[in-house]
Amino acid sequence: MQTTISPFVMVIFGATGDLTSRKLMPALYNLLSYKTLPERFFVVGFARRPFSHEEFRSLMKEAILRHIKGKKIDMEALNKLLQNLYYQQGLFEEKEPYEKLINLLSSFDKEIGACITRFFYLAAPPLNYSTILNKLASTRLSEGCGQGSSKWTRVLIEKPFGKDSDTAKKLEEQLTHTFEERQIYRIDHYLAKENIQNILAFRFANAMFEPLWNKDCIDHVQIVLAENSGIGNRGKFYEGVGALKDVVQNHLMAMLAYIAMDEPGSMSVDSIRAERVKVLQSIKKMTKEYIISNIIRGQYGKGLINERKVEGYREEKNIAPDSLTDTYIAMKLYLDNKRWDGVPFYLRTGKRMPFSAARISIQFKKPTHKFFESIHEHKEHWHDNVLTFRIQPREGISLQMLAKKPGLGFSLQNVKMDFSYESSFGHKLFDSYERLLIDSIRGDQTLFATNSGFNATWKVVTDIEKVWAQLPLPKFPNYQAGSWGPKEAEELISRDGRHWLLH
Ligand code: BG6
Repeated sequence: MQTTISPFVMVIFGATGDLTSRKLMPALYNLLSYKTLPERFFVVGFARRPFSHEEFRSLMKEAILRHIKGKKIDMEALNKLLQNLYYQQGLFEEKEPYEKLINLLSSFDKEIGACITRFFYLAAPPLNYSTILNKLASTRLSEGCGQGSSKWTRVLIEKPFGKDSDTAKKLEEQLTHTFEERQIYRIDHYLAKENIQNILAFRFANAMFEPLWNKDCIDHVQIVLAENSGIGNRGKFYEGVGALKDVVQNHLMAMLAYIAMDEPGSMSVDSIRAERVKVLQSIKKMTKEYIISNIIRGQYGKGLINERKVEGYREEKNIAPDSLTDTYIAMKLYLDNKRWDGVPFYLRTGKRMPFSAARISIQFKKPTHKFFESIHEHKEHWHDNVLTFRIQPREGISLQMLAKKPGLGFSLQNVKMDFSYESSFGHKLFDSYERLLIDSIRGDQTLFATNSGFNATWKVVTDIEKVWAQLPLPKFPNYQAGSWGPKEAEELISRDGRHWLLH
């Protein structure tokens, strides 16, 4: 894919962290490999540790090679990326490194002979966001080239965006004090997953599904983000954050927004974002009693993953031996609107699940007519009609239904209609970080989160946490690594006469 993107500079705060090496560098490498980036651009890593430009380049080279291990290396793309990497050492709270950064960025403008767009990517631990934003404002780096043309700066900010409603509000105030909305790119990378974007096409470009998309035809919806991995090297980040804030507040809610939204008036950024936000704002307020019985939390203990013994969460690096951080959530919620009145949405996420998968499943109601009532053969194995969006892996959509078994007589059997990206489109999908980077560079905010959306989901999370704070401490660990979570999560759905579809 050839584009006409102009030279730009991206400063990554927290450049020696996990996100930069695992996501951002591989994304930049791939974008170069697809020929989507210009010949000349500048990526400046900003972090505490003392590195020269060269040392930073070899560190990033290692990270990229680790990432593409086993695949053919595009040496041209790799070398081009490394040539365009720079490093600025400094503590986030010191003024001097920002002043040095001004000189470095000015030298790039000079080389290009123009004011180039500046991106400030906040990939540092979130407790540093406020300090970095303060410094960007006080050194007037936020104003861009020559510290006087704010048109040419954008800020990208990673989740978690605050810790609760209040801290999110404060962060937002600080952001909007320094940047205009059109300059702010709040990242929730699930919004950029290909098959989540595809929900819009599926629902609104095909006339046949939308008439069914409501309480009259849909029994319930399940949204799941299961991860096989544990906490790995991210203990410092994860401890005290937990699954509710790490992925429910954002990624699961992003999936909920797309699956439940009304048709946007147009393809414009504002229309799409507005419809997403309406869904999140319509989440039914939860009472204390509701929260106690419908929001289940868990933490993994020791167990077996692929027949390999693994540690419990409390035994992982940088985790307190008596940690109360949740690594699992199962919950039921309702939307307060006409379309979804009375339809339960079951959300579920966990670390150290038997395998990794992100899916949205729509279970349709059973047929009301009695035509097939008289067929009893294998009836107990008949499945309901379920439409499943496989967000990952094996991105695609399948529809489970009953068909007449070929032959004499009339018996029924479960079958699946299946669409897969791989068989229909063949080529590799854009990774969400590739898409987000390129969209921010092109100035398209559609796939970025909004303040009002985050406000709505923080409200839900904060209400839940306030109730939890009044309850006796949870008895963790309460599920084994390699299982599907605590038994209360089974009860949550089975008492409604339903079952988890992914198991
Ligand atoms: C991140 C969370 O935002 O999303 C991680 O911090 C989680 O804990 C990850 O593992 C899941 O994203 P993906 O794209 O790997 O499904």
